Amino acid sequence: MTSSNALDGTPSPASPPSAGGATPGAGPKATNIVWHHSSVSRAARAHQRGHRSAILWFTGLSGAGKSTLANAVHSALFEQGLATYVLDGDNVRHGLCKDLGFSDADREENIRRIGEVAKLFLDAGVVVLTAFVSPFRADRDRARALVDAGDFIEIHCAADLDVCEQRDTKGLYAKARAGEIKEFTGISSPYEEPQTPELRIDTGGQSLEDCVDQVLGYLQHNGVIPGPAQG
Ligand code: ADX
Repeated sequence: MTSSNALDGTPSPASPPSAGGATPGAGPKATNIVWHHSSVSRAARAHQRGHRSAILWFTGLSGAGKSTLANAVHSALFEQGLATYVLDGDNVRHGLCKDLGFSDADREENIRRIGEVAKLFLDAGVVVLTAFVSPFRADRDRARALVDAGDFIEIHCAADLDVCEQRDTKGLYAKARAGEIKEFTGISSPYEEPQTPELRIDTGGQSLEDCVDQVLGYLQHNGVIPGPAQG
């Protein structure tokens, strides 16, 4: 089920969440709760801001360049005056998700929460960029299913494991190889590559500038952000 939040003036903000509670896909645990509709619609927010909102979901191995690329795109959007925000795995795990580790179940819950938070940002009229390993296809697909088609743009930061391991910017791969970190993605925990992402970017081989251009080009082409000024 998806909500009817097209930017066509339909006075319908995001509909009640279809997922939530302890079991993904299940309804809320609480009873006697009634969805309260916002007095300002997503369409009205988009109209006031002059751009629509979207979720840019960056996925890839640790060290693939998700945060770097997301932040560079974020800066470019910010400079254009767009409402934009980055949700970053390492940062969110210091707060909202600090009770979660890296077991499959904890990663699933991590991504469930981020999907819901991203949906709120979408409704708030923000171009929200999420940078999470999000290694499991089913978890990413659940986040996608929370919103309408076209609102969720999956961006696979495709850098090979050996490139990420060679970079080892945080020294985590060395620790994982030494057995000091368990369930490390790519080493002792799987990464399921997206099969049909909206964008697949060679963050292992291309320059950051080229990667940013690819994302911005996609957003312009698909009407998320205004195209380059005509001169
Ligand atoms: S996710 O799998 O649940 O999506 P998330 O993106 O929030 O992961 O966090 C990944 C970040 O945590 C990595 O960039 C890395 O810095 C750090 N990290 C620590 N332990 C692990 C681990 N076992 N597997 C993957 N990343 C880890």
